[in-house]
Amino acid sequence: MPVQSFVYNSAPQRVVFGAGSLQHLAREIDALGARRALVLCTPEQRPQAERIADMLGAHAAGVFDRAVMHVPIETAREARDVAQRLGADCAVAIGGGSTTGLGKAIALDSGLPILAIPTTYAGSEMTPIYGITEAGMKKTGKDFKVLPRTVIYDPELSMTLPVGMSVTSGINAIAHAAEGLYATDANPVMDLMAEEGIAALGRALPAIRASAQDAAARSDALYGAWLCGTVLGNVGMALHHKLCHTLGGSFNLPHAETHTIVLPHALAYNAAAAPEAMARIAKALGKDNAAQAVFDLARDNGAPVALRDIGMKEADLDVACAHALKNQYPNPRPLERDAIRALLQDAWEGVRP
Ligand SMILES: NC(=O)c1ccc[n+]([C@@H]2O[C@H](COP(=O)([O-])OP(=O)(O)OC[C@H]3O[C@@H](n4cnc5c(N)ncnc54)[C@H](O)[C@@H]3O)[C@@H](O)[C@H]2O)c1
Repeated sequence: MPVQSFVYNSAPQRVVFGAGSLQHLAREIDALGARRALVLCTPEQRPQAERIADMLGAHAAGVFDRAVMHVPIETAREARDVAQRLGADCAVAIGGGSTTGLGKAIALDSGLPILAIPTTYAGSEMTPIYGITEAGMKKTGKDFKVLPRTVIYDPELSMTLPVGMSVTSGINAIAHAAEGLYATDANPVMDLMAEEGIAALGRALPAIRASAQDAAARSDALYGAWLCGTVLGNVGMALHHKLCHTLGGSFNLPHAETHTIVLPHALAYNAAAAPEAMARIAKALGKDNAAQAVFDLARDNGAPVALRDIGMKEADLDVACAHALKNQYPNPRPLERDAIRALLQDAWEGVRP
């Protein structure tokens, strides 16, 4: 056993988990001391948001349904204005990372408390990290003002997440836990959560592929997403998240798919430098090799495994590599240009690591 030394922070956040837990919404709004909630959603999830507004009755200020990926500053400003005009004293974000992100942009400016109701596995609801895109550049930051105060995880609301998105979103969650296991500021509590979160998603995703309406699998996946999101919110991420941020931001690649494709290769890159983390990831997935286990989980469940299949051009790989190397950041293996370029090539071609 190694001699342990670590710092552990725990954030004040309330989590209400379980099938049907949306029924506690009014109680939870009340517990926040709020009286007028602005419900946020994407245009596609407007029916779910309206259901929530109906449940809140007089305590609903309105529905703002223009959340989109990467939180454009214009949308954030519009939502802030609407919240102010309607006298909202809290934001209810129902949806994935894009909708939670919009809530965070409002909270950053106004301090409005957020109640998040996640319907994907991205994990933004458990982090104090926000991102806002201005003039084509996504700026991210960390501020505890934007951490949702309450999170209602109701797996019934994730039943409508298409199987393909469920698989990629689940692997997006696994990525948080996997990098958490080799973070420089890792701690044993987050390690436990990471391993348990990966195992839950590793079990749940094939079951969801077999049946999107499998209530136990949906519950397991959302439980895993909570754990993995908590890891993302508590410890620093490394090469994998940096590469995905670059690919998503500069080449407009879809978020969850990009994570799904890059993760096996980032793990292979770091394997020799982080053997204990790799052993825990592999064990959680019931396999011997972490990178191959993640690749197989994606491929065997119908997810894309090649960047070329989601719109990345081979000619852009050099630029992507240069972006990823612009700033130094902690990573188990030093950042080596040729090896990272080779990693990107492998991810582009979709070879099994
Ligand atoms: N700040 C953070 O800590 C953090 C963490 C993870 C992701 N993110 C950000 O979140 C964004 C990605 O989030 P995402 O992957 O959850 O996707 P998303 O929020 O963009 O959702 C994708 C699509 O799926 C729809 N959808 C969501 N849940 C559904 C459901 N249950 N049924 C049917 N449709 C549903 C949405 O309406 C949307 O059209 C990115 O911008 C990413 O940067 C931020």
